[in-house]
Amino acid sequence: MAGLLSLLTESWQSGEALARRLGVSRAAVSKEARRLLSEGYPVEVSRQGYRILPGTPLPHLFHPRGRLGRPYRYLGRVGSTQDALRAWAEEGAPEGALVLAEVQERGRGRRGRPWASRPGASLTFSLLLRPSLPLPALGLLPLLAGLALVEAVGVGGLKWPNDLLAPDGRKLAGVLLEAKAEGEEVAYALLGVGVNVAWAPEGAAFLQEFTPLSRREVLEAFLLRLEGLLPLLETPEAFLARYQKASYTLGRPVRVRTAKGVVEGLAEAVFPDGSLLLGGVGVAAAEVELLPLIE
Ligand code: BTN
Repeated sequence: MAGLLSLLTESWQSGEALARRLGVSRAAVSKEARRLLSEGYPVEVSRQGYRILPGTPLPHLFHPRGRLGRPYRYLGRVGSTQDALRAWAEEGAPEGALVLAEVQERGRGRRGRPWASRPGASLTFSLLLRPSLPLPALGLLPLLAGLALVEAVGVGGLKWPNDLLAPDGRKLAGVLLEAKAEGEEVAYALLGVGVNVAWAPEGAAFLQEFTPLSRREVLEAFLLRLEGLLPLLETPEAFLARYQKASYTLGRPVRVRTAKGVVEGLAEAVFPDGSLLLGGVGVAAAEVELLPLIE
């Protein structure tokens, strides 16, 4: 049966009313609700009937305020939203297209690490951008996405290159940028974002420990911020001045693991290609560990 998901709202509706609207039996509604649950959609069932978990960005409840976030695909179970969006991009999806899934069976983080999430409690989505930029300029995009995230939620700060950390240093969100090149230019960029909103894996933090924002509110606020920040890719100095204010890394002693080994020093600056100036040495995107400040 198609359509139950598109009728659900944050208010309870009886099985009888839903069955009538869909022109099916109550038993068919119940069966479809069970199927949706098994696909990872956060449908709630009680004596009052059915509803979608409040804050879920169902297509008819999600209202992007700018041009990013449309067209929109809201999915249950996928491998990775990055792969779902890449396939859509290859079919010609426009800039702003967004794929959000409740369950990622192979969600990935940076450096080939897995990304854990929980249906109804995490935000896992990928946004398609088609910037007319030379490839090296793309290095700033994940930093810009991190800045959009911290400005959107008003909590925490950024660990270079693009993790959002809670004030106590636990990780709240991460950004993964994957891009396709056409010669020296960017054909498209897949900006993957994972936010722990109401749940976090062991050792990490979730946003609702600090703010009551729902998943839908975080997504809408992020997209609007990102749209406002994107023009700054053309003026890296202006962007970096703003990024610096939200950074937990700059001005701090850090340890970075690069392919060539471990570098320690004061994180002095970020270059226009997104790399970090560390104790007089430039390092490209790598793993940063914040070290205790020495008084
Ligand atoms: C990191 O901090 O390592 C980056 C995490 C990025 C995770 C997101 S979740 C949505 C998108 N799909 C994926 O498979 N990964 C990104």
